[in-house]
Amino acid sequence: MLSKSAARSFFLVGTLVCVAFFIGLTVDTLGRVPAQTRAQNLTDSVKLGKKLWEKNNCMGCHTLLGEGAYYAPELTRVYERRGPQFMRALLKDPQAMYPGERKMVKYNFTDAEIDQLIAFFQWIGEMDLNGFPPKPHLVQLAVTATSTGGGVAQASDRPFVFNQMCVACHTMGGQGGLVGPTLDGVGKRLTADYIAAWLRDPAAVKPGTRMPRLPLTDKDITELTAFLSQQK
Ligand code: HEC
Ligand code: HEC
Repeated sequence: MLSKSAARSFFLVGTLVCVAFFIGLTVDTLGRVPAQTRAQNLTDSVKLGKKLWEKNNCMGCHTLLGEGAYYAPELTRVYERRGPQFMRALLKDPQAMYPGERKMVKYNFTDAEIDQLIAFFQWIGEMDLNGFPPKPHLVQLAVTATSTGGGVAQASDRPFVFNQMCVACHTMGGQGGLVGPTLDGVGKRLTADYIAAWLRDPAAVKPGTRMPRLPLTDKDITELTAFLSQQK
């Protein structure tokens, strides 16, 4: 049994040691924040983008860094997942991409505001978050990685716009998203005319389809059609 005074010293010393540890670790964490958040990349655009994020209550539907509401997708890594072109199109007019189906709000942002939001998402996406959010390990999303599949176009041989916008939802050579069907061998299944019409307006070809109408130029469509027709 400890005497009363020994118990008091034990309590005091124990408390002081724990407080000292706590303060030490807090200082250490705060010291790491600038490097982990890449504070040097905090441009004015990024800050304005954050203001837009707050002012429009995007967190009423989305989470960022895990915080917010669970109605709409987590956006911490959206820059990496979707790329700037996809985000620009969606922020400009979500309905045009997902006619009648989706609840992402059309905010009528100016182009400058969209740039600021994209800069903000890019900055958030580059933070070192100790591995949050975990990457899905079933599919490899890396766009730049080269695959080894025989006869399958390597990432570097594909049209730029393909790597920018299509891999988010489609796989090719085992890489990409699983929202749509794989595009391996798509040239065997579909004719060039069908592919071109599909890319121009998927819902016109197949009402109710889940493939969005993407902001593709005529040149993009010609290039993508030629490329996809060769995937046999
Ligand atoms: C009323 C709810 C709601 C609000 C508010 C909202 N969003 Fe969304 N957002 C959605 C939904 C739902 C989607 C999913 C779109 C889809 O794929 O159907 C989405 C998708 C997105 C995406 C694409 C995510 C992805 O992985 O494809 C981005 C980027 C985005 N929202 C940004 C914003 C920003 C920035 C704001 C605030 C200015 C905002 N959202 C406010 C509902 C909302
Ligand atoms: C947001 C997700 C999404 C994106 C981004 C997307 N697609 Fe799709 N795509 C789909 C879905 C879902 C389907 C299946 C649609 C259906 O059958 O209703 C599909 C179907 C297709 C088909 C028909 C495939 C078949 O075997 O019938 C082609 C071709 C295609 N997409 C090409 C593209 C190209 C090229 C891009 C980039 C410019 C692209 N997609 C971007 C979701 C997407």
